[in-house]
Amino acid sequence: MEMKQKIKQDTSVAVIFLIYLLSCIALTAGMQCSGIAPSYRFDCHPEADVTQLKCQQRGCCWLSSKNLDEGVPYCFYPHDFPTYEMGSPEQTAFGYSVVLKRTTKSYYPNDVMQLQMDIYFETSYRLHFKIYDPRSERYEVPIPTPKVSKRAPSTDYKVQFSKSPMGLVITRAVDNTVIFNSTLSPLIFADQFLQMSTSLVTPYIYGLGEHRGRFKVASDWKTYPMWSRDHPPQVGDNLYGVHPFYLNLEGASSKAHGVLLLNSNAMEVVLQPAPALTYRTIGGILDFYIFMGPGSDEVVQQYTEVIGRPLMPPYWGLGFHLCRWGYGSSNRTLEIVKRMKAALIPQDTQWNDIEYADGRKDFTVNNSTFAGLPDMIKYLHASGMHFIPILDPGISSTQPPGTYPPYDTGIAQDVFVKDSTGKPLVGEVWPGPTVFPDFFNNKTKSWWLDQIKSFHGKVPFDGLWIDMNEPSNFVDGSINGCTKSSYDNPPYTPSILGGSLDAMTVCASAIQSIGKHYDLHSLYGYSEAIGTNEALVKVRNKRAFVISRSTFPGSGKHTGHWLGDNYSLWPDMAYSIAGILSFNLFGIPLVGADICGFNLNTTEELCQRWMQLGAFYPFSRNHNTIGAKDQDPTAFSVDMQISSRNALQIRYSLLPYIYTLFHFAHSKGSTVARPLFFEFPGDPKLYDVDRQFMLGSSLVVTPVLEEGSTNVTGIFPKGIWFGVNHGTHFQVNSTQAVTLPAPLNEINAHVREGCIVPLQLPYKEGYTTTTEYRQLGFTLLITRSINGPGSGHLFWDDGDSLDTYENGNYLLLEFSSSETSMNSTVSYDGYSGSHAVTVQSFIIATVPHPVSQVTINGTSVAFDYEPQLMNVYVNNLKVPMQFNFYVKWEWQTQD
Ligand code: GLC
Repeated sequence: MEMKQKIKQDTSVAVIFLIYLLSCIALTAGMQCSGIAPSYRFDCHPEADVTQLKCQQRGCCWLSSKNLDEGVPYCFYPHDFPTYEMGSPEQTAFGYSVVLKRTTKSYYPNDVMQLQMDIYFETSYRLHFKIYDPRSERYEVPIPTPKVSKRAPSTDYKVQFSKSPMGLVITRAVDNTVIFNSTLSPLIFADQFLQMSTSLVTPYIYGLGEHRGRFKVASDWKTYPMWSRDHPPQVGDNLYGVHPFYLNLEGASSKAHGVLLLNSNAMEVVLQPAPALTYRTIGGILDFYIFMGPGSDEVVQQYTEVIGRPLMPPYWGLGFHLCRWGYGSSNRTLEIVKRMKAALIPQDTQWNDIEYADGRKDFTVNNSTFAGLPDMIKYLHASGMHFIPILDPGISSTQPPGTYPPYDTGIAQDVFVKDSTGKPLVGEVWPGPTVFPDFFNNKTKSWWLDQIKSFHGKVPFDGLWIDMNEPSNFVDGSINGCTKSSYDNPPYTPSILGGSLDAMTVCASAIQSIGKHYDLHSLYGYSEAIGTNEALVKVRNKRAFVISRSTFPGSGKHTGHWLGDNYSLWPDMAYSIAGILSFNLFGIPLVGADICGFNLNTTEELCQRWMQLGAFYPFSRNHNTIGAKDQDPTAFSVDMQISSRNALQIRYSLLPYIYTLFHFAHSKGSTVARPLFFEFPGDPKLYDVDRQFMLGSSLVVTPVLEEGSTNVTGIFPKGIWFGVNHGTHFQVNSTQAVTLPAPLNEINAHVREGCIVPLQLPYKEGYTTTTEYRQLGFTLLITRSINGPGSGHLFWDDGDSLDTYENGNYLLLEFSSSETSMNSTVSYDGYSGSHAVTVQSFIIATVPHPVSQVTINGTSVAFDYEPQLMNVYVNNLKVPMQFNFYVKWEWQTQD
């Protein structure tokens, strides 16, 4: 029987081979291969071992030449490469349904010969389409997404069905810009190989994470692999998180759109200069969302509407965090905290790394070196500060029975990921052999909650740092290796680091409660963040603060992120900006890089510059590896300490503004950190800018990123720019490079014209925590509005209670200004503390003439006009902010 089948298979292989060969010869010679420009070649043989013969066996074109740019495939699809045939689209309640059928097989095993494509006109600005196997259920990403059953009555997009070449063409209704066009290369949908290409409008494309690189994704034949992975960031590698989302600019029209492929299998995205991109994923379905913007920030708002809006962090979480691996003891950790306080350097949170634990085991404390941990936490809490420990997912599996409850109870409750034989899969992480909780299992969630609760009883932490959750594994697969199945050895492996799915993680064949690790791998950190956030809320009954290394679309609802194990090197500092901007696109605005660098010893100058830049990261934490020299600011010269203090004082002063940005991230999905082109769309000079960034719409940060520089060149769009350091300003009439002085002790940050920025300025030198700063009156910085009305907002609440926005326990003010006045309007007031919220001072910046009078609600007040700076200062006020108020200033006209 077996023999017969073998012979049958062999003959059919031979026949297919012959047909291929004949058709290849015809094709390579014929029109189907010529006339395809190199930038439009779609790779038919992405596997490394391509030869002419192998290419032609696939029925593809082979044209090699030394003159081609690097990356141009020699082996590419002819125009008429066989693919699916499209049936007639049928109208449905939500849009269309259409059947796709293929009659010839592709060159990957187990083609799905008949597919269904459902198109949902979900909202005027969001199109959703899904290509799947209607006959047998396949894995779909289990993140909650909105379900829509009715077609939107009018839409910003149009959909065309192209039968030949087969594909979907999506255009922007107003100007016919082609947003998505899948007709450029043949669709392949085999069980473990799904491939689809689309054109891009311009090469200005951003996103596709998690990767190290420039913010604008390189479109010249670069491949972006995605499969969550523990590795120090390097250009080209797949990293900790997976985010198959991009934003594409549409050029002269100033518009932007976004595209999400909601798929979590190992994949790669190839960019080519057509411009076009190709998705290759090895499982699941093709589930796409298109977001029409047309503003860039609107694209992110529309994206986060689908995947989940970012969490509202506690106010203290926006303070400065200090961490390192290698304090050695709780006493030493506390000593550093005290040293920071003595130097008056703002710090809200102290962290501890795996060394606090006994043998690096979760939920334990090393009773000799960290015996003082509870006392340290007491000290922190008494000082209005907070404590965050690390928590890795790997649970030690080799402790004597009865001695380590997390493992014993976990086994009893059956909470761990299993190997293909059904036993808990054993890998190896910091504590030695470990098992891995399956956070998709509800039993695991309640077990995790129990562990967190009982640990919190001993170590009353305030947030959790969840690391190693790719999941990272120091042995490939498991201590027993992996299987020979097609999950561990798929027919095609995307170009991921290590070349195999089990590289430094658990076997793809591992079993989780809701499916295979093969499908769920890149969601491991996502699922852990949910369980951890929920546990923290239950245990503390306050807002959860979680920072996770591995993330997926939707993670921002549950956690922030840090950019992983960077190096104490200047380029690493520069790359952090692109990383932070990208994660803001991914709906995870609470993001930062390890300030001063994790690996290697930093230098004082690098650390000084990095403390300055890091003072503007949405999540601001200095973290260092074991064995490296201390790098908290107090480890350096007094000058370095003073400039770190100054930079952090600017941060703390700006926190009401930054907190308000987080409110808009949480309530409508806006970004917190954003590139300049978000605010100044359609200006090609800004498309590449990633050495500067904005916080919200008002502030541009221009850090020094090079050793030895004492000036810095930034690009500034037309307008008046107010420097936060000295209250000086400059003006540019069109977008241009401006070189600014940048002495070693300062960072440049500028507020754009026409802004009202709420601040809390420290009038007491000794304030070092947000707990203290939050008691201060507000200062409103009003920058001149010469081109239309100025604007600003303040969101204020108690900073830590759960769901204040959802429950209406907050105060929201809307500010507007003209050249000579400013209004504050209460948009909403449901905050019990709003009677105590007052304006203490105004800074009215860049007033072009000496001011003769300032009135608040019609009453004159004392003021100072600083003629050199052209700024007006009004101090010592107590204007209640729970009521509307207005300010007017009159200047003397010069005749
Ligand atoms: C990982 C983390 C790093 C941490 C170390 C020890 O490398 O990325 O931040 O310090 O593990 O826990």
